[in-house]
Amino acid sequence: MPDEQLSAPGLSRSRTTSWIGERLLYFDETDSTNDQAVRIAKEGAPDGMLLVADAQTAGKGRKGRSFDSPAHAGIFMSVILRPFVDPDRASALTLIAAMAVQRGMKQTAGLDARIKWPNDIVIRAGEEETYRKLCGILTEMSVTDGKVGHVIIGIGINVGNRRFPEEIAGIATSVFLETGRDVPRTPLIWSIWSAFEPLYDIFLKTQDLCALAEDYNAVLVNRGREVRILDPAGDLQGTAAGINARGELLVQTDGAVIPVSSGEVSVRGVYGLV
Ligand code: BTN
Repeated sequence: MPDEQLSAPGLSRSRTTSWIGERLLYFDETDSTNDQAVRIAKEGAPDGMLLVADAQTAGKGRKGRSFDSPAHAGIFMSVILRPFVDPDRASALTLIAAMAVQRGMKQTAGLDARIKWPNDIVIRAGEEETYRKLCGILTEMSVTDGKVGHVIIGIGINVGNRRFPEEIAGIATSVFLETGRDVPRTPLIWSIWSAFEPLYDIFLKTQDLCALAEDYNAVLVNRGREVRILDPAGDLQGTAAGINARGELLVQTDGAVIPVSSGEVSVRGVYGLV
């Protein structure tokens, strides 16, 4: 395990962002930085406040799954945002966070990771056409009187893990396993949020991803691949063409291009699935 100890003073000293993380809360251990963020956001915590934990006892993933969060090995962090944006456009923030992680990973660890729509960061496993997951993102939002109260973006990254629990060993990887070195977490955290800030500014100006979709699509692992959308309303199969300005995945089927805004995407080859 990397012996770099995360701490509040260490994080604050190294901050490279202009406003995200100016207010910062650090935990050696907490239940879930997303749950903590929701609690303090309800009490009025400011825009840009960042919560970072060395370990989580109840890390949450999408679709009610848990997120493995062992001590000293990962980055578990959540930011509180208060954007002026329509609630039905706010889910695009997850995609922006994925772009920021992809960029931070490249800058700090030299890793050429890809995004699995909408918000997993994956890396190719050797020469094979399969990918393993390095990072997951969970966004939660509160809406009052039709307006966004807060958006919490939670990011979990496997950094120093040497191995994984059996259930995820075949689909998960870490920065250490991919680079062979212990990449310090503090600079990685700040390179992600430094990448996020300008993307967020663009999004707030345009209120969508029209100016960012091309860059997102350039690192989208699903692009040009067969995808299967698992949806309670009926599965859909086709070829992913990329995202549109709303962050929807455009799926080319036999007869039409269908925009998909939610659901679980299963990608042939990715994670060795299907
Ligand atoms: C997923 O892969 O399904 C999303 C995982 C999100 C995990 C992060 S870790 C920091 C934050 N706190 C949580 O409980 N979850 C997110």
